[in-house]
Amino acid sequence: MSKLTIEQLPLAGKRVFVRADLNAPLGGGTVADDTRLRAVIPTLRLALDRGAAVVLASHLGRPKGGPDPKLSLEPVAERLGELLARPVPLAPDCVGEATRAQAQAVKAGELLLLENLRFHPEEEKNDDGFARQLAELADCYVNDAFAAAHRAHASIEAITHHLQPAAAGLLMQQELSALGRILEAPERPLVAVLGGAKVSDKVTLVEHLVGKVDALVIGGGMAFTFLRALGHAVGRSLVEPDRIETARSALEQARRRGVQLALPVDAVVADGLDSSSGRAVGIRQIPDDQMGLDIGPRTIEQFTAVLAKATDGRLREAALRRGHGGHRARGGGGGGLQRHRRWRYDRRRQRRRGQRQDRLHLDRRRRLPRIPRGTNAPRRGRSHGGRVMRTPLVIGNWKMFGTLAEARPLASGVRDGLKRFKGVDVVMCPPFTALAAVGEIVQGTAIGLGAQNCHWEASGAHTGEIAPPMLVELGCRVVLIGHSERRREMGETDELVNKKIVGALAHGLVPVLCVGETAEERRQGLTFTTVEGQLRASLAGLDTAAVARLVVAYEPVWAIGTGVNATPQQAAEVHGYVRGLVSELASKEVAQGLRVLYGGSVKADNVDALLAEGEIDGALVGGASLNAQGFVSIVKKAARGAATRGE
Ligand code: PGA
Repeated sequence: MSKLTIEQLPLAGKRVFVRADLNAPLGGGTVADDTRLRAVIPTLRLALDRGAAVVLASHLGRPKGGPDPKLSLEPVAERLGELLARPVPLAPDCVGEATRAQAQAVKAGELLLLENLRFHPEEEKNDDGFARQLAELADCYVNDAFAAAHRAHASIEAITHHLQPAAAGLLMQQELSALGRILEAPERPLVAVLGGAKVSDKVTLVEHLVGKVDALVIGGGMAFTFLRALGHAVGRSLVEPDRIETARSALEQARRRGVQLALPVDAVVADGLDSSSGRAVGIRQIPDDQMGLDIGPRTIEQFTAVLAKATDGRLREAALRRGHGGHRARGGGGGGLQRHRRWRYDRRRQRRRGQRQDRLHLDRRRRLPRIPRGTNAPRRGRSHGGRVMRTPLVIGNWKMFGTLAEARPLASGVRDGLKRFKGVDVVMCPPFTALAAVGEIVQGTAIGLGAQNCHWEASGAHTGEIAPPMLVELGCRVVLIGHSERRREMGETDELVNKKIVGALAHGLVPVLCVGETAEERRQGLTFTTVEGQLRASLAGLDTAAVARLVVAYEPVWAIGTGVNATPQQAAEVHGYVRGLVSELASKEVAQGLRVLYGGSVKADNVDALLAEGEIDGALVGGASLNAQGFVSIVKKAARGAATRGE
């Protein structure tokens, strides 16, 4: 990168103004975390060793319009002195007579730290007169404040009109070349992580990044402005009302360019910044009187999954930054790539990855019990050596296909093809008109019968509807509820889905709850938010025992009938998410026993790869279930997969 750097400056005998970012967290009158101080040491050492007199300047915190003893750089001077093993005197101010005199007196190889630049409001106003006064303190300028370099403040921008040559410090140089490499010739997919409090600080950056990256992960306070732009209520969380439109247009740009956007799906909320504890809630559940202060555990999972796709280790490791001392999530805004590598998040990520691997391992060992046959069938899943095993389940959804003339040979073909199979539960869901006929054909076999919908009432004046007891009478054990085609074509809402689940359960049917996002929702990074919303609303009011009797089918709407299935990894991410949410809504045991099926363009040639994912417990097959041989082959593959995965 062709920038003048400190190494190219003739430093000997010169007075150099070094603008650093020494905005370190303080606690009990001392520096609580000296990472930022350490980061600037190489530049200071180089300048001092080459015989420069260093006038060092920084801001600290956000003083309100004047000097504030609590935000003096005194503790910073002290810690810096320890790190450099030499005294670091602190000037009483950053401008004015006394400061100028002190700066003039600094000798070659010595250092003077100026008091907090922001004690003067002119600093943040990029005031030219103030910048001129700063410029008078030295002969040349070095900017090593990477984290503040995007600001048009007097010590960053205006000063360079009065003090030349101006060069980049070593930290700045390192950060710029890392950034340059990533933005100019990135390995793809390229994921950017943004955070910090404000959208307003980073509008240009966001706009620029949307044109470069494959995915944008947005955390920190600024995420709430984006969530508001998407119509979420975010309680008292930090929102910049005048930036909601900006956020909306960034989302729109990202959508148009096909950039994947990941926003928080849950948050840790509390009464205020000073609260000592918080609790995680779904992003749609932030109470009006609380504020989101951190991302929640499911968001960490989701962000981790997005980051796992990035091939550049540095960016990946720069992932997230958890706020020090509190529960504020901050990403990106506060610092550069180099430092991020050491962030605590890395350790958490490793821990989580370990846990996830354990879980995958556990889930791969699923097997056993079948779909309940009786009206009061017990929970699926049982403990096996301390682990819960889940029997794969394959359901054929015939949709509006199957006159009796078509349904009979299809059902017989499946029955004959599956004479000797085990290790998989199989259900066929023909249209209502074919239920009785198919029921007769599969009677006495292990193949179950299911319906594609039901009403929630047991009886009544509901012309054209079918009640759960009618299905039970025909031998149905299963009923699909909330299929996206019904949601879309019949306007079926989450509330209706909830009622139907309750109605089905009341008559001993196993509801297969279908959830899934549209292509648009996935593009906007709303996959998890959508699925979570559907699940929460559909399961509202159900007790743990009721949830234990369900099957969930994740069916991304964009994959249904399109021939484009979700990749096993995409599906597994959502399945894991569903399980996590059910664990929260019901219990861990219920979540472990829950079968989560994948649906959407499942065929004989992709079922192996999908079911190889430990989180995918079977398939809801549409189009491919209309061919007896094809469906039989899907079931057999699932059976073989299960046998291989077994003990
Ligand atoms: P598909 O349908 O397999 O034809 O994509 C799946 C479903 O609608 O359940």
